[in-house]
Formats: sequence, structure tokens, C-alpha cells
Amino acid sequence: MIDNEVLKAIKERRMVFKFKDEPVEEEELNAVLQAGYWSESFGDCEPWQFLVVEDRELKQQLYELTKRVTIYTAGIKNAPLTIAIGITSCATSHFIEEGAVAAHNMALAAYSLGLGAYWLDVYDLENRKDSVEADAKKLLGFPKEIRLTYLLPLGKPDQKRNETRAKLEDIVHYNRFGNE
Ligand SMILES: Cc1cc2nc3c(=O)[nH]c(=O)nc-3n(C[C@H](O)[C@H](O)[C@H](O)COP(=O)(O)O)c2cc1C
Repeated sequence: MIDNEVLKAIKERRMVFKFKDEPVEEEELNAVLQAGYWSESFGDCEPWQFLVVEDRELKQQLYELTKRVTIYTAGIKNAPLTIAIGITSCATSHFIEEGAVAAHNMALAAYSLGLGAYWLDVYDLENRKDSVEADAKKLLGFPKEIRLTYLLPLGKPDQKRNETRAKLEDIVHYNRFGNE
């Protein structure tokens, strides 16, 4: 089977939600941010605004907020930093995908550097005023027109997960669904 560094990283990356109490080096953080910055975007609009949350009190408050929408939120408290992925209005209806592309590129880059990350979705489809997205935006000072899509806690992994996948042949079809 063909293999190379990129394919290997794609296969071996696993989400990490437990982190060691160790910092992320500035160079490593910059490499991860670069990976987000080089993501694809609809119509080349480059809609990302990355906000790095390192402040302990802000992390604690984000943790409290995200408990309302998802599990494994403790990673936010424990990770040395969390990258909040904001998407500007140039992405129009594609804001979720634009955030997702950047989150995944950054998670892969993190893995390639021996770091770990995972995503927490915070966007509210209906963009309600009382949503976790709205409250997290207020907490972090994001402008109103920016959509807050994902939070990406990042740090040195303190766990090794061995998630498996369904068989490839069960999900790939040629020409017509079902391969009959
Ligand atoms: C779009 C998307 C949203 C996700 N949201 C969350 C989340 O809110 N909370 C969480 O703990 N993990 C979240 N994850 C991580 C998945 O649970 C994880 O990727 C999945 O369990 C497979 O594990 P692996 O990435 O280690 O292979 C998300 C992943 C994706 C792609």
C-alpha cells in the first residue's frame, strides 16, 4: 500500500482530550496556526480569525459554557491553550465547513508535531442570542458578525486512544451505490 508522511499522519491522528501540564512552544503554536491559515476557503475568501486562549480564568469560563453542549469539555481547562476558530461574514452559508477545514488541518499539524487536539463544536445553527456560541463570543470579545465555529484545545497528549474505523470496502462504492 502506498504510504508517506501525510498519509501516515491522516491515519494515525487520534483526538486527544487529556493533556499534560506542559506548555506548547511558541514555534509549535505558530506551525499549527499556519496549518489553519493554509486551509482551503470558498471563493478564496480566507474567512478565519483565530483567537488563542491561554488565560486560566477564560479557559475555566469556556469550560463552564461548553458543558451545556458537549462532552469531554474538561480538555479546555487542562490544555495549556485553546484555539477559538472564528469565521467572518465572507464565508456566508459555508461558515461551518470553513471552520471545520481549519480545525482539521490544525489537528493534523498538531499530531505531526507530537501534540494533540480535539474539536468542540460551539456554533448555534440558529445563531440565537442565548446560545453557547453567543455567550462564548461575548466572553472572548468576538465581534457580532463573526461566527464562532469550533474550539480546539491543544497540548501535549496525556493519553493514547486506539479508535478503529469501519472497513473501507463497506463505505466505498463504484459507479452505483452497493457495488451490486
Ligand atoms: C465536526 C466534528 C465535531 C466534533 N465535535 C466534538 C465535540 O463537540 N466534542 C468532542 O469531544 N469531540 C468532538 N469531535 C471529535 C470526534 O468525537 C472524534 O473525531 C471521533 O470520536 C473519532 O475519534 P478520532 O478522531 O480519534 O479518530 C468532533 C469531530 C468532528 C469531525
